[in-house]
Amino acid sequence: MRIPADTPDLAARAAPALLAWYDRHRRTLPWRAPPGGRSDPYRVWVSEVMLQQTTVATVARAFAGFLARYPTVEAMAAAPLDDVLHAWQGFGYYARARNMHRAARRVAALGGAFPDTEEGLRALPGVGAYIAAAVAAIAFDRPATVVDANVERVVARLFAVREALPGARPAIRRHAAALTPPERAGDHAQAMMDLGATICTPRAPRCLLCPLATFCRARAAGIAATLPAKAAKAARPLRHGVAFWAVRPDGAVLLRRRPEDGLLGGMMEVPTTEFRERPWTAAEVRAAAPVAIAWHPLGGTVRHGFTHFSLELTVMAGRVPVRARPSGVWSTVEALGDHALPTLMKKVVRHALGNVPGAGKS
Ligand code: ADE
Repeated sequence: MRIPADTPDLAARAAPALLAWYDRHRRTLPWRAPPGGRSDPYRVWVSEVMLQQTTVATVARAFAGFLARYPTVEAMAAAPLDDVLHAWQGFGYYARARNMHRAARRVAALGGAFPDTEEGLRALPGVGAYIAAAVAAIAFDRPATVVDANVERVVARLFAVREALPGARPAIRRHAAALTPPERAGDHAQAMMDLGATICTPRAPRCLLCPLATFCRARAAGIAATLPAKAAKAARPLRHGVAFWAVRPDGAVLLRRRPEDGLLGGMMEVPTTEFRERPWTAAEVRAAAPVAIAWHPLGGTVRHGFTHFSLELTVMAGRVPVRARPSGVWSTVEALGDHALPTLMKKVVRHALGNVPGAGKS
């Protein structure tokens, strides 16, 4: 898309208005430096890795505890991987924690100083374009352009980018770059995030409170709430799987960790077959079960939408004798919540607990 000729002018007027708003309305968040202060790159990096997967509210609650455990990059580098994986519970994919630990060791080996450019940061394990830009801007005030979903929305509206996502991304990025000021780029990035989270919200933007309202082309055209447009999603194919609700005589339930690569990589699961287009036959279910016992189907199915397919899961329940030793870990029903199960697995747990009389108890 062509950038309209007056974009630099709009950017030059909007960026200072946004910073002035941020100085009054910035959210207080535990990884942020106080106004005028310089953020610690380690804290910024950890927060951005967490925020890729988890809400600001959740990270805000758990950040101090995590930082108390690993106050410095050297402390994280010195910790065993399993310790870091354990501390990561509740923050999503374990692959991120593994990469974070590898990156911490890399930085510690460099003497504990983080690279201070986007390019240098991107060379660290698990650091992609978004995190590199965020850390470069927030911790080092590099004029990097930070674009997350909040920023995409603010920019699409401010510049009235009508093209639908994902096709609009290159144009949005160019506008976002034009809007990034040479100074205070870190505050600018965080101001965009705060504006997107609190004022320029997806469904009912609070334009009356917005510091950019007078510059906003979408508002002038009366289309702010409709942007960014999203391309219609292709119909998702249906896949089938089977989950095994295995209960020991003491009521404990079998869980195991999924392989690192692939869907829900590294996350805990109720043991589950692969998800495939063809439904599973009884013989295939028996062969795929984590332990050879009598399995009984629970009524109904668990449905879940992944990005590229819809899933229909049947849940089989079975009682596992003490002498059987399937691989995995046993969890009491009460402790299932401590295992950071992905949403699909939480649905399986709810389904099983609602369908097995006295589920989890012998
Ligand atoms: N979301 C992702 N990174 C953030 C940050 N640094 N501040 C606020 N919200 C965020």
